[in-house]
Amino acid sequence: MLKQKIEGIKSESLEKIKKSASERELYDIKVKYLGRNGSLTKILKNLKNLSPEKRRVAGPVANQVRRDIKEACQNKKKELAEQVDWEKEKIDVTLPGRKTETGHLHPITLVQRDIEKIFTSMGFKIADGPEIESDWYNFTALNFPQDHPARDMQDTFWVKNNKEKFVLRTHTSPVQVRFMKENKPPLKVIIPGRVFRNEATDATHEHTLHQFEALVVGDDVSVGHFKYIVQEFFTQFFSKETKIRLRPCYFPFTEPSFEFDINCTVCNGKGCPSCKGGGWLEIGGAGMVSQNVFAVAGYPKNKYQGFAWGFGLERLAMMKYKINDIRLFHGGDLRFIQQF
Ligand code: PHE
Repeated sequence: MLKQKIEGIKSESLEKIKKSASERELYDIKVKYLGRNGSLTKILKNLKNLSPEKRRVAGPVANQVRRDIKEACQNKKKELAEQVDWEKEKIDVTLPGRKTETGHLHPITLVQRDIEKIFTSMGFKIADGPEIESDWYNFTALNFPQDHPARDMQDTFWVKNNKEKFVLRTHTSPVQVRFMKENKPPLKVIIPGRVFRNEATDATHEHTLHQFEALVVGDDVSVGHFKYIVQEFFTQFFSKETKIRLRPCYFPFTEPSFEFDINCTVCNGKGCPSCKGGGWLEIGGAGMVSQNVFAVAGYPKNKYQGFAWGFGLERLAMMKYKINDIRLFHGGDLRFIQQF
């Protein structure tokens, strides 16, 4: 019985060795029969428990099969080694390696990180809000009248929804209200983020862009504070002394409202083609937060004062890196992107 079993192992293993096609396969076969838990190993270990007569028959056979398997493995190994086509396997170590391209941050991300660094150093928090925004937060809460032209199809991407009206947010200002609902003054926060306008694109207009909002609220926050912080920010951002100029303007959610300019970063305000000779560059919108907006956020009327501003990150990146077409940012042209 046992002898037959051993013979069975022999024919089975030798057949497998013959058919094996790689050293790895050969190794696995060897382990299967001769390894610590191999089937032949088990038999060999058990010999001592057999009666002397049985052991006398099975012992030599088992040991012989063990030698046979080992030898067959060795021979097969040699055979396999001889089959290797060394011409094919040759490696030319002098060939230059294939380069892995390393990624890097997009210029808009770089600018956003710069801004965040400067403002957090001044004690501002950073907040975030949804890109798909309700009509209420994007317009109504910000004091936009029902028939305000910004709600128009021309400016806004409307999102179909049966229950409530949703838009792709047209600015980061709705996060002012979201933040104030959750936080009580005094507060200082910036809100960078992606916004959308239903825009015919050209060198200075994009349908998808980034804005960055700032909001400071307290008991006696004034336009003076606003001017100081803006000047401080731009001086750090452009690493040179920057001046700011305010012009009267209108936004439903600020009163008074203004647009603000900084002196041209190319000519320092003397007048050059970049600023069309005027010495000033238009930056964005700003103003003192309307008491109506405070009321919507749940603050008592006429208790607090604050300012807010918002402007486009793309425009800032264009100024900093002297880029002349806003469409380059999302155009996917690697020749542009790899310069950063
Ligand atoms: N949200 C305005 C815009 O997108 C800019 C702005 C922000 C104006 C904050 C005033 C205060 O044009």
